[in-house]
Amino acid sequence: MTDADPTYDVVVWGATGVAGRFTAEYLTERYGPDDLALAIGGRDRGKLDAVAADLAGRSDAWDDVPVVVGDATDAESLRAIARETRVVCTTVGPYTRLGTPLVEACVEAGTDYCDLTGEVNWVRETVDRFHEAAVDSSARIVHSCGFDSVPADLGTLLVQSFAAETFDAPCETVRIYLEGGSGSVSGGTLASFGELFEAAATDPLARETLRNPYSLAPAGERSGVDPGEQRRPRRDPLRGAWTAPSPMASVNERVIRRSNALLGYPWGREFRCSEVVPTGEGLRGATTAGLVAGGLGAFSAAMSIGPVRSALRRHVFPDPGEGPTREEAEAGHFRIRLLGRGTATEGPFTVEAEFGADRDPGYGATARMLGESAVCLARDEVDSPFDGGVLTPASGIGLPLAERLREVGFTASVGEPSAGDTTESGR
Ligand SMILES: NC(=O)c1ccc[n+]([C@@H]2O[C@H](COP(=O)([O-])OP(=O)(O)OC[C@H]3O[C@@H](n4cnc5c(N)ncnc54)[C@H](OP(=O)(O)O)[C@@H]3O)[C@@H](O)[C@H]2O)c1
Repeated sequence: MTDADPTYDVVVWGATGVAGRFTAEYLTERYGPDDLALAIGGRDRGKLDAVAADLAGRSDAWDDVPVVVGDATDAESLRAIARETRVVCTTVGPYTRLGTPLVEACVEAGTDYCDLTGEVNWVRETVDRFHEAAVDSSARIVHSCGFDSVPADLGTLLVQSFAAETFDAPCETVRIYLEGGSGSVSGGTLASFGELFEAAATDPLARETLRNPYSLAPAGERSGVDPGEQRRPRRDPLRGAWTAPSPMASVNERVIRRSNALLGYPWGREFRCSEVVPTGEGLRGATTAGLVAGGLGAFSAAMSIGPVRSALRRHVFPDPGEGPTREEAEAGHFRIRLLGRGTATEGPFTVEAEFGADRDPGYGATARMLGESAVCLARDEVDSPFDGGVLTPASGIGLPLAERLREVGFTASVGEPSAGDTTESGR
């Protein structure tokens, strides 16, 4: 951070889009102008003024919401924005196409930053290009502060912190079960999916990033024992029932491995994590797992073929800017359960955590996860050894974010499984 006090605590960059608007609405509902010096930003002054007027109209506390204008492709405008705020909280995506100049501007200015990216190819690029410079300038660049990857990454941190305190040992494995959820998807999210598949088809480094489970670890440390995401139906090694691959595993698992690496391997170099969708017992569970795996495989195969990908993007996916209504974003829910297994001097132990919210995971809940990430950074309410670098939610912010999310209705609990839980059976 520069010596002069910045004008704003947080700029929500991309506030005219679906996720940005929900984030700005959440922050202006939760905080008044005396608590949080907030501005909204984007490229279109007219649209931004309309959003600002709507935000002020919905709030007793905000008479007006300041607006900053720039363009994701205009480095000078981004530098000016980065200089006048403590934190840039950005939903301008696809990040592969629109994100790099903003990260560069924040790194140069020593300004903190958080985003919603699930584009692991792009995270790898920012790690390689900006981590050292961000350490030097004390800019905390915290990627993936939405549904990917806060629940999985912070949930793992909850499990591991409990294991360390209670058993004086880490969990060697953490399994993440996407137990339930209902929500929607916006045009912007599908555009980012499209960009990821485009990169995988055209860029060998992106392909390597998606192949290697350790691709987001620091350079020189990109290998290990963890085989990476499950791709087929499988009986669960801890709970016995059937599981299918999770669509978010390729992002969440890599983010968690980066957290472990950045923190200096407190969970061990042989730590393994995996995220799956539980589908139940017996024939029904196996069939559902097969259908989920088949559906994901078919979608990936279709998105890997250039003309099919283009046709889907042009004719089937909603356009960027389209997405759930406010009512839809505030409805929906998600629950993830995490099971950690470790070995203490007294023998093996299990830790269980739950993370969830009664809101659309990608929008109502994500607005809160991203907004509170920005507030944690702006107020320096973090439990992290780093004041700069390309970081993850767990390594860059840590448990204070879980505490803030609990205050706004999230479940973020951890403990030993209750007696009789199948998790104790050791299957
Ligand atoms: N991790 C998660 O859980 C999660 C959840 C939701 C979204 N996301 C991610 O968040 C991103 C945004 O999604 P969304 O649905 O909000 O997308 P969106 O509705 O299309 O919004 C994109 C925003 O970017 C702005 N923008 C586009 N080009 C720009 C430029 N050159 N300069 C400045 N601003 C520009 C748009 O401004 P205009 O209005 O002027 O076009 C708009 O404000 C996507 O990458 C998506 O994958 C992640």
